[in-house]
Amino acid sequence: MQKPDPITIVIFGASGDLTYRKLVPALHSLACAKLLPEDFIIVGAARSNLSHEDFRTRMNEGVEKFGRLTGDQCMPWADFSQRLFYQRISYDDTDSYTTLTNTLQKLEKEFKLPGNRLFYLSTPPSLYAPIVETLGAVGLASSDSGSVRVVIEKPFGHDLSSARDLNKRIHGVFKEDQIYRIDHYLGKETVQNIMVFRFANAIFEPIWNRRYIDHVQISVLEDVDVGRRAGYYDKAGVLRDMFQNHLMQLLTLTAMEPPTVWDATLLRNEKVKVLRAIHPPTGAAVRTNTVRAQYRAADGKGPTYNKEPGVAPHTQTPTYAALELYVNNWRWQGVPFYLRSGKALAKKVTEITIRFKDVPHMLFNAENTSIEANELSFCLQPDEGFHLGFQTKIPGAGMRSEPVDMTFHFAPTFGVKALPQAYERLLLDALLGDAALFSRADEIENSWRIIDAIQQGWEQSDGPPLSFYEPGTWGPSAAETLLAASGREWGIHCAD
Ligand code: BG6
Repeated sequence: MQKPDPITIVIFGASGDLTYRKLVPALHSLACAKLLPEDFIIVGAARSNLSHEDFRTRMNEGVEKFGRLTGDQCMPWADFSQRLFYQRISYDDTDSYTTLTNTLQKLEKEFKLPGNRLFYLSTPPSLYAPIVETLGAVGLASSDSGSVRVVIEKPFGHDLSSARDLNKRIHGVFKEDQIYRIDHYLGKETVQNIMVFRFANAIFEPIWNRRYIDHVQISVLEDVDVGRRAGYYDKAGVLRDMFQNHLMQLLTLTAMEPPTVWDATLLRNEKVKVLRAIHPPTGAAVRTNTVRAQYRAADGKGPTYNKEPGVAPHTQTPTYAALELYVNNWRWQGVPFYLRSGKALAKKVTEITIRFKDVPHMLFNAENTSIEANELSFCLQPDEGFHLGFQTKIPGAGMRSEPVDMTFHFAPTFGVKALPQAYERLLLDALLGDAALFSRADEIENSWRIIDAIQQGWEQSDGPPLSFYEPGTWGPSAAETLLAASGREWGIHCAD
């Protein structure tokens, strides 16, 4: 494995939850797995007044609680923590960035680091552009003495125009190849494996098209409700929170053409082509091809979205959506892609199911009343693996058959702790300068174009009505109707 060059990692928003739960535990696991360079430092920056020791103590707790690999399994905390520092910052004060520059220079001298820097923006999104612009103003974006990259957390904009504006302001300081926009779904092993499965096996790709596939289902279902995030969530809703990023990524990886080599530009070109081929429903089709819903306990006792603290009582924000989309190109013409995602559902399960067409002619009809078509499911989480459903003969007289399931799961083959956490892979790639698993500017903007059109359709008087679903179920009946209209139904293949 290639190792990154010696580097200084600066995390803005270092007193926040993401740094505590994900970023530092991921960096520590990378150090454990000997994937970080020999020489590195991590400087946390945030508004809180913390000493280096306060910061280290908090990060140690995060590593112990959330790290895949912890101190007793590999790198002793004492070795790691001596490379961890904290610098208080006022985001709107240029002098504060000058102080940060001095701190970085001093530490880089002490640790003999060459001046390669990775800035990670894990702050509220309204600070992304101001931070980047101030980095530019104080000279911290200059790559004169080493590589400089910036990692930007989601959400990247809240609609097409804000995403364009943000891209423009960031491009005023950094070149596109220095910018790493995070979608943590791309860091998931099982999501990357969609590409390996499709393009490293010869048997699936020839049938991966409209001739053999009836439809595709992408389900990203969550059992958690909006919890303490209502303030953010009520302004965002499920389309912006989940579809613009995660579901669109899953769709593009499932539908894209193979790039000729594994290369960030070529790969992302293919993904953008898929997005450009999606013409979101407009007019009456918004009503027939989309569903929006909120969770609401009928008995008034269970979780109810508009009663969550911080949510407006008359809110129209959906916590669940289902969409029927089409990728208008030669491979996929006429094949529906059904996407659904929601909160407060029966179980957490993320899966992509490819439903193949029925056999063209059935020999055994007299003895089989219902023959199910083949289905291939990518179980993305939590029980990572595959299921392939096919018909097999029931032993005994006659030619009766029934569907059976062929499965593969990662844990028994590779071990329970074998799957790195998403942030491990993404941080490592950003340190290596490989942007393949990050969203490009045009990719984000094309995805917002689709989401904006649906969102606008929902805001019109003839859009689909807001429906409701009982928490702890699989969603609203309107989502079933969406598929039933063409004689199809949703399936869950990766959970009991
Ligand atoms: C985040 C969303 O991007 O993804 C959350 O903001 C959601 O609302 C989360 O819960 C789901 O991520 P995962 O990795 O648990 O599927």
